[in-house]
Amino acid sequence: MEGLKLKGFEENKTVENQANRVEKGKLTDLFRQENTISLDPTYIFEAPGERPVSIKDVEALIPRVLEANRMLKRQEGNILDNGIPMTGWQNLPEEIDRRHLAEIKSVTDELSGEIDAFVSTGIGGSYLGVEATFQALTHSYFNQLSRDKRGGAPEIYFLGQNMDPDYFRDTLDVLEGKRVGINVISKSGTTTETAIAFRIILKLIEENWGKDASRFVIATTDKSKGALRILSEKKGFKTFPIPDNIGGRYSVLTDVGLVGLAMANIDIEEFVAGFRRMRETTMSDDFMANPALLHAAIRHAAWLKGKKIEVVAVNSRALYSVARWMEQLFPESEGHEGHGMWVSPTMYSEKLHANGQMIQDGERNILETFLLLKEHDNRIEIPSMEGDPDGLNFLCDNGIDMNYVNRKVVEGPAYAHYKGGVPNMTIEIPRRNAYNLGQFYYMMERSVAISGYLMGHNPFIQPGVEAYKKAMFAMIGKPGYESKAKEIEEEIKKLGRIKLNFPDLPA
Ligand code: PA5
Repeated sequence: MEGLKLKGFEENKTVENQANRVEKGKLTDLFRQENTISLDPTYIFEAPGERPVSIKDVEALIPRVLEANRMLKRQEGNILDNGIPMTGWQNLPEEIDRRHLAEIKSVTDELSGEIDAFVSTGIGGSYLGVEATFQALTHSYFNQLSRDKRGGAPEIYFLGQNMDPDYFRDTLDVLEGKRVGINVISKSGTTTETAIAFRIILKLIEENWGKDASRFVIATTDKSKGALRILSEKKGFKTFPIPDNIGGRYSVLTDVGLVGLAMANIDIEEFVAGFRRMRETTMSDDFMANPALLHAAIRHAAWLKGKKIEVVAVNSRALYSVARWMEQLFPESEGHEGHGMWVSPTMYSEKLHANGQMIQDGERNILETFLLLKEHDNRIEIPSMEGDPDGLNFLCDNGIDMNYVNRKVVEGPAYAHYKGGVPNMTIEIPRRNAYNLGQFYYMMERSVAISGYLMGHNPFIQPGVEAYKKAMFAMIGKPGYESKAKEIEEEIKKLGRIKLNFPDLPA
């Protein structure tokens, strides 16, 4: 029997888009108009229940938010890491020049032609932005498509973001027999997960290519110092620098993001243009015309009213990974000194049949942000069924498609959750393109930086992450951490480990 064939469906627009990503002259006024991000705070105010957020609460924050924006522009306040003001991301969109983008493109084009699969290796800020953008703009089964349908890009994999040996082994299986290239991304150059993953893939590449191996390796790291910089110089890897004044989670517009995105045939010029536009918009001191300030003020007002969890709900698999990027950006920046809101990425309607119960009816400590895609790439019609066994023929009779149902699957909960005491706002992204993502990322970066000023601490450092790193280094026996290892061992002994085994009951 012949395999199944899709009848009555148009060509997949995501495939078409990813094959024709880089299209010159696209950034017209009309394009800009059609790709404007919106923020709807209707359901934030006066949600039923105790301690509702009111318009007055947000208005009361305006002077502080404006002052924070001014301080950020002047690079003042609690913004230093090791003596460096970590605000390089703020003007980066203006500083990136065409020549640099062309250089990235020429490196990735050359490598792309020589490989079948590209591995992006990194963790945290050296991983999430690249993966989020890749997932948001490409086909859900990218690696399973033909190279043509991938727009000429190699298969793309991500490693180093966890230490799961089975996942690692599975990835090695799919890389077997392929010509592999790698971009190892680490600002510090000493992050354990990244370094271990890199060792293994580098070994694979070196075993295959011998002295030619360095052609297949890109290192994105500090411009002058660190273990990865030293190794790269020794081995002759192509390198891209990470600026001193930009921290990991703010680095998606640096080469940390751009190299991987160019490799996936994503239009990096358009990406930069999106950042530029939102930079212009959010430098403004006009509160109502500045979405980052409004966003920061709403979140802060909600936090002051006891909202400790932010559910970021998406209506698109493509945007789920973007919500995961937010899961890092906000808690890693705000989670200091007992402060911060936990960000929980959620996809509807899947989670409406799971934690949706708690959002509607559980403890009222939740703020909800709907991060919605306005126009999906594809339209799916719902077929009619003889006898109407599930009672859904009315949908096709009324010309209602899956896209419409998907919209109602978020509009319904937005209203119901509001009535149930969960204040919520909607951020709408018009379409899946690099321009809109660039705008969105910049808006969030500025919002969380403002949040740092409002909460009264430095949003550009992550001492908690350093604490876990030290404990792990000690536990895996890293030289230099001997006394820390001893201290931990003694404390654990004092605590007394409680471990219960549950043997089978006698038959
Ligand atoms: O946002 C951050 O600074 C962190 O998440 C880092 O990006 C992450 O720890 C990886 O660090 P590095 O790039 O030094 O390997």
